[in-house]
Amino acid sequence: MVEIELKTDEFELFRRYIYEKVGISLSDQKSTLIKGRLNKRVNQLGLSSFRGYYEYLIRDASGEELAFFVSAISTNVTSFFRESSQWVWLEKYLPQLIASKREKKIRIWSAGCSSGEEPYTILMFLQHHLSDFDQWDIKILATDISPKILSKAITGSYESKQLESLSKEMVIRSFEKVHSKSGIYYQVLPYLREKVMFRLYNLVTDPFFFKNRFDMVFCRNVMIYFDEPTRHDLIGRFGRVLPRGAPLFLGSSESLTAHRETFKLLGSSIYQRL
Ligand SMILES: C[S@@+](CC[C@H](N)C(=O)[O-])C[C@H]1O[C@@H](n2cnc3c(N)ncnc32)[C@H](O)[C@@H]1O
Repeated sequence: MVEIELKTDEFELFRRYIYEKVGISLSDQKSTLIKGRLNKRVNQLGLSSFRGYYEYLIRDASGEELAFFVSAISTNVTSFFRESSQWVWLEKYLPQLIASKREKKIRIWSAGCSSGEEPYTILMFLQHHLSDFDQWDIKILATDISPKILSKAITGSYESKQLESLSKEMVIRSFEKVHSKSGIYYQVLPYLREKVMFRLYNLVTDPFFFKNRFDMVFCRNVMIYFDEPTRHDLIGRFGRVLPRGAPLFLGSSESLTAHRETFKLLGSSIYQRL
């Protein structure tokens, strides 16, 4: 593999483009990261310079190369029942949500859902805590910028070690064990998978097309890469799709510095729409 140099002006091109397209602001130090992580990709594509790769990236109308780039500089790390204290909080909040419902209908958005553990956790949580779960019309909108990670999420297939945080009862209730040539894996049962609508969606540049409001929004460990104006704008838009009283879940290292008139901190990076 040829070691390709990333010139300062080339880095500037990436920096501007990535900021415009995904709201990620690359600091000067990220130059080494881009060079290290994308050198292989540039070689794979048979290109001889980062300038050539930049041209390739901006011409790709499918958005797949952009998603590849974002994956290379960020992370898709996720897990079932991540941020455990938020699920404890939700268990206490659930009766209030249920009592407020005239129709047995729940709508939740998992924004930046990665490989699906978050939306499937929401379903497993509801299945565990609602004795009449099957009578509810539950839909989870699960969106991500990466087509590759979404195609993994849609299959709902996981290795046994990824299910370690789940109780045996949950695994039996929500997954089927599949024996394949490549080994054993666990797949979320079809009737649960059907409740999740996976969609390709860029939180920074795609229009907010939602007709209805959500009972809650999860946007955890996604905004860490965004700069303050981008975060501010996105939180404002979350405010428009949440009714009063509804919770917004962020990652444990994320907090809201503005929007005090729209959101109140309830604890564990959980905010309530005022
Ligand atoms: C670290 S994962 C978080 C997954 C999950 N929310 C959790 O907390 O476990 C961050 C996800 O955000 C997605 N992402 C990053 N920038 C995005 C953007 N502008 N629009 C939509 N998704 C984005 C990434 O592709 C990645 O899958």
